[in-house]
Amino acid sequence: MAPDPRLICASSALEDGGEGVRFSLPGPEGELQAFVVRHKGVAHAYLNRCAHRPVELDWLPGRFFDADQRYLICATHGALFEPVDGLCVAGPCHGGRLVPVSVFEQDGQVFWHAP
Ligand code: FES
Repeated sequence: MAPDPRLICASSALEDGGEGVRFSLPGPEGELQAFVVRHKGVAHAYLNRCAHRPVELDWLPGRFFDADQRYLICATHGALFEPVDGLCVAGPCHGGRLVPVSVFEQDGQVFWHAP
């Protein structure tokens, strides 16, 4: 049986290119930190961990987008990531990827799915 989806937040909490919502999920060695953002109308979620070093991305809690609201940006060394697939397009981890978390929206709410 598939695990129950877990509520992250209301869909209205995610503005396009705006602040993300941080959440945690169980990992093999304890809780993992993750975040969800909205880009071009679609919610995308990743582990909150740079592809370069294991540090969180947001430069202030929930701030994941760059100034142009085009890319996700790592606060530590400025790597830029595509919001749709987590591909690093510039910075020290160029060609690397953020780890995706499966999310979906239903009835005005955002949920994550356990893998
Ligand atoms: S830790 Fe993210 S670019 Fe260096």
